[in-house]
Amino acid sequence: MYILGIETSCDETAASIIQVNSSGKLTVLTNIISSQIEIHKKYGGVIPEVAAREHVLNILPVINESLAKAKIDYKKIDLIAVTKGPGLITSLITGLETAKTLAYAWKKPLIGINHIEGHIYSNFINPSKPIKFPALVLTVSGGHTILVLMLGHNKYKIIGETLDDAAGEAYDKGAKMLGLGYPGGPIISKLAIEYKNSGQSSTLKLPRPMLNVNNFNFSFSGLKTSLLYKLKKDNNWPNRINEYCFAYEEAIIEILVKKTLKAATKYKIKTIMLAGGVSANKELREEFKLKLSKKYHFLVPALDHTTDNAVMIATAGYYRYKNKGVKNRSNLKVDSNLKLQ
Ligand code: KG4
Ligand code: ZN
Repeated sequence: MYILGIETSCDETAASIIQVNSSGKLTVLTNIISSQIEIHKKYGGVIPEVAAREHVLNILPVINESLAKAKIDYKKIDLIAVTKGPGLITSLITGLETAKTLAYAWKKPLIGINHIEGHIYSNFINPSKPIKFPALVLTVSGGHTILVLMLGHNKYKIIGETLDDAAGEAYDKGAKMLGLGYPGGPIISKLAIEYKNSGQSSTLKLPRPMLNVNNFNFSFSGLKTSLLYKLKKDNNWPNRINEYCFAYEEAIIEILVKKTLKAATKYKIKTIMLAGGVSANKELREEFKLKLSKKYHFLVPALDHTTDNAVMIATAGYYRYKNKGVKNRSNLKVDSNLKLQ
């Protein structure tokens, strides 16, 4: 079957076509993304109204390009999968209403997908190893930090989440304080690696909030405030940016790895997966591999499926359609606070 995926929950307008054969083998035909990063950079973050206007301009060209590059006529599409939440409300509406209109005009089934479920399913796009349940997925993005126990396809239990900032938000806010621009993850990560490769050892100590509490929740806002106070006390910080990036990233990664490991032991996990924009982080991927891959099946999404894309939405659409079928498309609504279930 051919599936068209559509994603517009934040600042990327994305459309993808995937093909799934009768034995379940998935082929990505197109992964088209129109990114608004350059537009939002000058504001230091995503402006919802600006994002929605850009989606309106880009959505049809992106879908057209996705079909054209896949060399697929719309008549061949068997299913449309679209993000219905969580995310920015007006951005979500653009994607969902476009998908509804196409489904009606083309007479195709339509399925609404939770954006977090999409990130989780980025691991199911031709996985390098079998994914055995129960699995644990650390979903780390700009808007979410969630430890999800996955008991089977489309069966989730949230066992921990952030009480304040998300991990990606911590990167973005930290980068803003250090004058490094938006988005913060890639640049902090690059400078941290430069520091590590320089062979120096840092004396900077930042806290690891909620590392030793008896639950799997996270908190990153204290870490961010700690960085702010350290910078205020250190007039020389502009000459130590790489070291600050290193210490900040080290704290974030240590918290993520240790909490995931603890949860994996408690829930007798077989597979551990990373998902979301922060899972593009090289050091995070390496630390996980080092600490977890001997004991568990460990998987990470391909780099071009870590940050927001529509391949993950099409893939999640395939599994949800297969396991749960489709409901009446006219009832489909966006929900900016949609919970994973
Ligand atoms: O999943 P995503 O594209 O959007 C949301 O659903 O939020 O994630 C975007 C987040 C941003 O906060 C960005 O700074 C972070 O992912 N990010 C990274 C890296 N690449 C993107 N964080 C750390 N290291 C990276 N290499
Ligand atoms: Zn996302």
